Amino acid sequence: MSVTFDLVIRDVDVVDGSGAPRFRADVAVDGAHIARIGDLAGVSGREEVRAAGFCLAPGFIDTHTHDDRVLLSHGEMMPKVSQGVTTVIGGNCGISLAPMPRPQSVPVPPLDLLDAEGTWYRYKRFTEYFSALRSQPAATNCAMLVGHTTLRVIEMDDVNRPASAAEISRMQSHVEEAMEAGAIGASTGLAYAPAACATTEEVIEVCRPLTLHQGLYCTHMRDEGDTVMESLEESFLIGRALQVPVLISHHKVVGQANFGRSEETLQLIAEQMQKQPVCLDCYPYEASSTILTLKLLNASKRTVVTWSRSLPEFAGRDLDDVASVLGCSREEAVTRLQPAGAVYFRMEDRDVNRILKFEETMIGSDGLPHDEVPHPRLWGTFPRVLGHYSRDMGLFPLEKAVHKMTGLSATRFGLAGRGFLREGYAADMVLFNPLTVADQATFEHPMRPAMGINTVWTNGAPVWRNSSTTGKRPGHLLRRTA
Ligand code: ZN
Ligand code: CU
Repeated sequence: MSVTFDLVIRDVDVVDGSGAPRFRADVAVDGAHIARIGDLAGVSGREEVRAAGFCLAPGFIDTHTHDDRVLLSHGEMMPKVSQGVTTVIGGNCGISLAPMPRPQSVPVPPLDLLDAEGTWYRYKRFTEYFSALRSQPAATNCAMLVGHTTLRVIEMDDVNRPASAAEISRMQSHVEEAMEAGAIGASTGLAYAPAACATTEEVIEVCRPLTLHQGLYCTHMRDEGDTVMESLEESFLIGRALQVPVLISHHKVVGQANFGRSEETLQLIAEQMQKQPVCLDCYPYEASSTILTLKLLNASKRTVVTWSRSLPEFAGRDLDDVASVLGCSREEAVTRLQPAGAVYFRMEDRDVNRILKFEETMIGSDGLPHDEVPHPRLWGTFPRVLGHYSRDMGLFPLEKAVHKMTGLSATRFGLAGRGFLREGYAADMVLFNPLTVADQATFEHPMRPAMGINTVWTNGAPVWRNSSTTGKRPGHLLRRTA
């Protein structure tokens, strides 16, 4: 008697997300879940895919995104599904789209990274934002953090000072509301002006509700340059005070004076992991990207404008060129371009390689989906790790690369039933060619889809096939199981 499943993928190399060596098998999917893995000669699929020569991996988890709004405004999620990503974590770096009592006509940087026009800041509470995400799902799953900077902007008349006790208690109740609604944790962006005056104590008190809900504390640290070690210590301290896991976002060391110091930072992180839960992610590039600010110019060898609201024609241009066209200094050009974003070349390959290779490092793109000429990490991160770093450079085996973007991330984020190819798990899957998978997005042409990604399924439904999105939007809003 033959059994029929919705989909059977045959003779595929299963890279299951655990880091274990790949094995040849057939994979059957029923509805939104993986039904069977093994020799399925006796079963048939309503749809059959012959996949000899291809790898099947769990859908990639983008652990660090700013997709809060794009999930709603461009839910086909092309930059992500074209790379094999099926889950995104939003609300990073202290910036979340909710809660916001009223639309912001000129959002305070860096809140403008999510929406420079401010009209998407329309969800007063996390419950409202989450019901929007549920009623119009995207092509990928998502899980969300509540941003400390967003809370400061809505609860303080002046962000250039530490918060008062009353402000702290109001921010704390927003964190509580977000966690009740199903947020997976909170994020800070202490390096950015609107949160730079927050004390360690303020962060601990605002994030207090994380303890009860066992939410994650994710941080774009106060500094990733000269005082990176002190910033790590502060992050660990906050995690200990709250008794929750700490996630060091987009770990890097910046500025020429600090090149090579990832040796120190990773040693400290490894030691601390013996004492408290700590995790980290990074993106596979030597340039960073965020808002355009004077503060970041000095440590950067080269700076390229990614968007500008006042002088949009300069998107994609080198800041030095902009200054010469405008006939002014670089500093003056920065002022005239505001509000704006930029790419900063300020890291070294040794550090990027060492951090990527570190056993516990997960992969997160930090892509900025609304930038006019975005950093290529938005379209290229995952295939770049598989192609450039794993296959071509041999930094680690393919199985390890996949683990860093699937099983490890699902485990650290508490995304139960995801991140591994196992019977009963969600059918979030990516079929790719291990010989050709590669990023195509460059700093010159940053919006080119990757090569070698054949088909991508979210919850059993195809979202990327034949080099295009399918229009399906099967994504779920995920919660954390601590
Ligand atoms: Zn950040
Ligand atoms: Cu970020």
